[in-house]
Amino acid sequence: MFYENLKTKKILICGGAGYIGSHLVRELSTQSAYEIIIFDNLSKGHIKSIPNGIKFENADVRDKRALDRLFSKYKPDAVMNFCGSISLRESVVDPLEYYENNVVGTIYLLQAMKKHNVKYFIFSSSAAIFGNAKEMPITDDARPEPISPYADTKFIIEKILAWSENAYGLKYVCLRYFNACGAHESGDIGEDHDPETHLIPLTLQVALGQRDSISVFGDDYDTKDGTCVRDYIHVTDLATAHIRALEYLIRENKSQLFNLGSGEGYTVREVINAARNVTGHSIPDIVEARRIGDPAILIAESTRAELILGWKRKYNTIESIVASAWMYHKTHTNGFKDI
Ligand SMILES: NC(=O)c1ccc[n+]([C@@H]2O[C@H](COP(=O)([O-])OP(=O)(O)OC[C@H]3O[C@@H](n4cnc5c(N)ncnc54)[C@H](O)[C@@H]3O)[C@@H](O)[C@H]2O)c1
Repeated sequence: MFYENLKTKKILICGGAGYIGSHLVRELSTQSAYEIIIFDNLSKGHIKSIPNGIKFENADVRDKRALDRLFSKYKPDAVMNFCGSISLRESVVDPLEYYENNVVGTIYLLQAMKKHNVKYFIFSSSAAIFGNAKEMPITDDARPEPISPYADTKFIIEKILAWSENAYGLKYVCLRYFNACGAHESGDIGEDHDPETHLIPLTLQVALGQRDSISVFGDDYDTKDGTCVRDYIHVTDLATAHIRALEYLIRENKSQLFNLGSGEGYTVREVINAARNVTGHSIPDIVEARRIGDPAILIAESTRAELILGWKRKYNTIESIVASAWMYHKTHTNGFKDI
């Protein structure tokens, strides 16, 4: 059983009250006896996403003293870092805020790990680091060429991690994913970003009567129906990859970079049609101009994660992903405010 080695370990989950972090917490906590400690400044996360009995500290990753206190108090064996600012477009408008929160914050975290002798680190990187990659699907060895401050913050951390391994013996895994989507099978937790920018929750808001239509940015791309193709990975599949990566780090004591994608991708129209089928709502769409910087196709393959981590996606169709998101959204029409 792949979770076995983790049972006695203490895992510090930074940003564990956010969308992906909360799904990881749910998966880890239901697998039994790991000690989970979440810290999050709740700038975007939701206290109500945290299951009863899980330790939680309201702290900011840019607060060195708070980190020192946390590491002294809990003595974690491994750290997973989900926290940070996540909007590619916002990062273009306010790059300094992004470099501070994502880069400076993670440096402080790594310094605390070094001081307290914590060796294992798992980082939420992003397929955005590949920019306008020419070869599709993007492979594990493709060359990063970030084209936004957000993506650059992720790539900078990847480089810092490589140098930190060299200097201090830190062992790390970077998971490069994009378009996390869907919701936990219980229907208790799901995606609740503010502002929401992701296609699936925005489309489901139309079905809920919270917006009139969904915008399709460009329908004249060189794709099967003219709309952009993106890779959608279910959030529980991402959570499983994190757990496998933790196991791998502890077992192999080696650093590694993994893409997490489906290698297939769906057009914007296919996602909207899936939402129509799942909800039974007509979901009107409006075609608007292309957005600057949107490549026609962005899909990533996960050969290395499949081979080395034995990672397999459970959610293989866009319908199953949208159906899980719908189960959450139709019972939490105002997100976590409904609990
Ligand atoms: N959502 C996606 O599709 C996606 C894709 C690729 C990569 N990622 C990366 O995955 C990670 C998690 O994404 P998410 O969608 O769950 O985002 P999220 O905003 O839901 O979660 C991030 C969490 O970090 C917390 N946080 C932010 N700044 C903090 C700080 N200074 N101190 C402490 N806590 C802080 C927020 O309160 C929030 O709970 C991010 O690093 C993101 O860049 C996300």
